[in-house]
Amino acid sequence: MVDFKQNIAEKISKTIQLPKETIEEYIEIPADEKMGDFSFPCFRLAKELKKAPQMIAEEIKEKIEVDQEIIEKIEVVNGYLNFYIPPKAYIQNVLQEIANKKEDYGKSTIGNGKNIVVDYSAPNIAKPFHIGHLRSTVIGGAIYKTYQHLGYHCIGINHLGDYGTQFGKLIEGYKRWGNEYHVDENPIDELTKIYVRINNLCKEDESVLEECRNNFKKLEDKDPYCVEVWQKFRDLSLKEFQKVYDLLQVQFDSWNGEAFYSDKMPEVIEMLKKKNLLMPSEGAMVVDLSDKNMPPCIIEKTNGSTTYATRDLAAILYRARNYDFDKAIYVTSYEQILHFKQVFEVAKFLDMDEKYAQNLVHVPFGMVQLKDGKMSTREGNVIKLEDLLNEAIHRVEAIMDEKNPNLENKEEIAKKIGIGAVIFNDLYNSRIKDEIFDWDTMLNFNGETGPYMQYIYVRTKSLLEKAGYIPTIEQVDFSKLEDDFSLKIIKLIYNFEDILKQSAQKYEPYIIARYLINLAQAFSSFYNENKIIGEVKEVQDARLYLTYATGLVLKIGAGLLGIQMPDRM
Ligand code: ARG
Repeated sequence: MVDFKQNIAEKISKTIQLPKETIEEYIEIPADEKMGDFSFPCFRLAKELKKAPQMIAEEIKEKIEVDQEIIEKIEVVNGYLNFYIPPKAYIQNVLQEIANKKEDYGKSTIGNGKNIVVDYSAPNIAKPFHIGHLRSTVIGGAIYKTYQHLGYHCIGINHLGDYGTQFGKLIEGYKRWGNEYHVDENPIDELTKIYVRINNLCKEDESVLEECRNNFKKLEDKDPYCVEVWQKFRDLSLKEFQKVYDLLQVQFDSWNGEAFYSDKMPEVIEMLKKKNLLMPSEGAMVVDLSDKNMPPCIIEKTNGSTTYATRDLAAILYRARNYDFDKAIYVTSYEQILHFKQVFEVAKFLDMDEKYAQNLVHVPFGMVQLKDGKMSTREGNVIKLEDLLNEAIHRVEAIMDEKNPNLENKEEIAKKIGIGAVIFNDLYNSRIKDEIFDWDTMLNFNGETGPYMQYIYVRTKSLLEKAGYIPTIEQVDFSKLEDDFSLKIIKLIYNFEDILKQSAQKYEPYIIARYLINLAQAFSSFYNENKIIGEVKEVQDARLYLTYATGLVLKIGAGLLGIQMPDRM
């Protein structure tokens, strides 16, 4: 597919002293179509060239060789150079590319040979898989898939919270009252109860707290009882978590959680010691970060046990060595911003190529709030994710019973729509914003929602089914798609790869989610304004092909967000 932006950048670069890449970066896609398809702002050059932007623009325009195949006209408006691409060029390029690439549409080679680690989901063993982990799973999953589509080699890691002082508590509680609870039947709930109970006891009795701390130390030292109980908690918890992953259809390349690094921390501690970075502080060992205006990073606690941060440092070293990452991305709530700042700072002192420490990226996201009532994590009154996802499915079933009671495969379709609605809702806004969890909003089939996008997709499917064929690209007369409604879709489809790149670069899946809504809405207008089936053959074929292309891109895009498309609904 001809890259118009690059092409324009090349032309401009022949007229001024500025590298092609920089020009390409400056080129924008105007929000208002009347301002052209691409536009180049000349303000940035004004200072350097000591000329008014308008004048610079005029001069560039004079010097550019116009090639009617690719540029129809250039206009100078308020210091901008606006470029208009001939509709024919768009239509031909996009549809030919769709025909060539099909499911691979939007794939790129920019990532070839590069490794990206995505650390996401990471629930904590023996605790409920809560809605914050849903966000991490969904956002991380989308980032993973987007990078993959762009040609990167991705390694998805579920850095399970399967280690730490809380296990000392849990072991203590289990030792005391394990037989009073039905841990095997209902592990997470029962372990949560034990955890709440032991926590309360710790608050009353300092010596119990001490016992708990020692248990974790014993676990680190491989005490058989502690290891056995811990393993049991882990196995039972993973079985529970798997139910959620099955519903979401998420997979990981690695399940190495915090415990995996238990024997890899001494090396890290040694490295820091050698560089004289470890300092005693109130009995603990810390790395001072006061020159970075941060509290110290605790590496070893008073009783010699390690910390969450130490495990993250060991994980960085391990991932650098084993995955040779070009970038390591961490997806957690914004509560952990400081933690990652500290860890990334200390990582600069590990014995590894400095490129690794420079390419650690924390991708924080906001909290989830129920429209009615809050979600607490500490006291045990949390909403379980599995229940929540099942509720989404049941709500969709109820809607379908009303609207389309005779639908076949209702269960499977409701699953795709219900889960898709939850995922889409999670991804529709900039991730740092707090999310409001409201059933009515996310299940509105006419809103900017997952179900709406799926509904439009199903439309494209049923149109093609009704026609009984998908035309071949050779059958398509491109000149039949030059009306505004068709062109709007064509241009959106053209931009798909660019959208993926933006989303990857900013770690913002919402850019894809919003794009898909725009595409769905554009198709809806096209469909309302244009007759498709029953038109003269050439027009029908052209429009059917565009229908096919739209459905294809909707499906690819939804897939990148982790959303499946039903074939009917
Ligand atoms: N288990 C942690 C939590 O639930 C998230 C882990 C994120 N990943 C990491 N490498 N620290 O908050």
